[in-house]
Amino acid sequence: MGRQKLARFEHNANVHNVIEPGKELFETVRKNWDKLFFKNGNPIVLELACGRGEYTVGLAKEYPNKNFVGFDTKGARIWKGSTIAIQNGFTNVAFYRHTIDFLDQYFEKGEVSEIWVVFPDPRPLERDEKRRLVHQRYIDMYKHVMGGGGIFNFKTDNRELFDYGLEVVKSNNPKSLIYTHDLYNSDYLGFHHGIQTKYELKFLAEGFKINYLRCEF
Ligand SMILES: C[S@@+](CC[C@H](N)C(=O)[O-])C[C@H]1O[C@@H](n2cnc3c(N)ncnc32)[C@H](O)[C@@H]1O
Repeated sequence: MGRQKLARFEHNANVHNVIEPGKELFETVRKNWDKLFFKNGNPIVLELACGRGEYTVGLAKEYPNKNFVGFDTKGARIWKGSTIAIQNGFTNVAFYRHTIDFLDQYFEKGEVSEIWVVFPDPRPLERDEKRRLVHQRYIDMYKHVMGGGGIFNFKTDNRELFDYGLEVVKSNNPKSLIYTHDLYNSDYLGFHHGIQTKYELKFLAEGFKINYLRCEF
């Protein structure tokens, strides 16, 4: 393993805003975010498969009265968001280094108010359909932690994945739904808060159009 990666893992092991296996809060914080981590009852917003956590820290700055948790399995990526949050003194940011596959075990029903899934792995193979983060089994978890309400945001360059996710979302009869296949030439540009992740910048540079949907369950 490279020296830089080791240094990032050491950072994660020693800072309060990265919760990962082996740390005390890793088990106890589940369904206790308000009491054990944030120490307030503000709404909780999730960025799932967050990579470097651009939405987590970007929205945390914009909404100091909301709490944000970024989830990813990769510590070297989470390190970036954690570092930015510490440098800026954001107390409303946490990163949870673990799979989102058991999200409904980490939050009480209705504990979450909004979810962002941004440029997830496309998983184009049919045999990987269940691993797409907009598969019905994930949407069921999202709906559970948002308690039957809540806002779901999904942004990707990948048209196939987007159309797949759109159909799944529609089949759940959301209370409201807006979507576009070309975010930057749409009326919905304001909804993404002008935040661009590492993957978004890469795909924009390659000339891809950006798909975005926002629904309320
Ligand atoms: C293509 S990257 C996108 C990262 C970031 N959202 C961005 O836009 O730059 C996909 C990320 O999803 C994470 N990931 C994939 N499956 C996951 C899962 N089941 N639980 C948590 N993270 C996951 C990967 O580790 C990776 O960082």
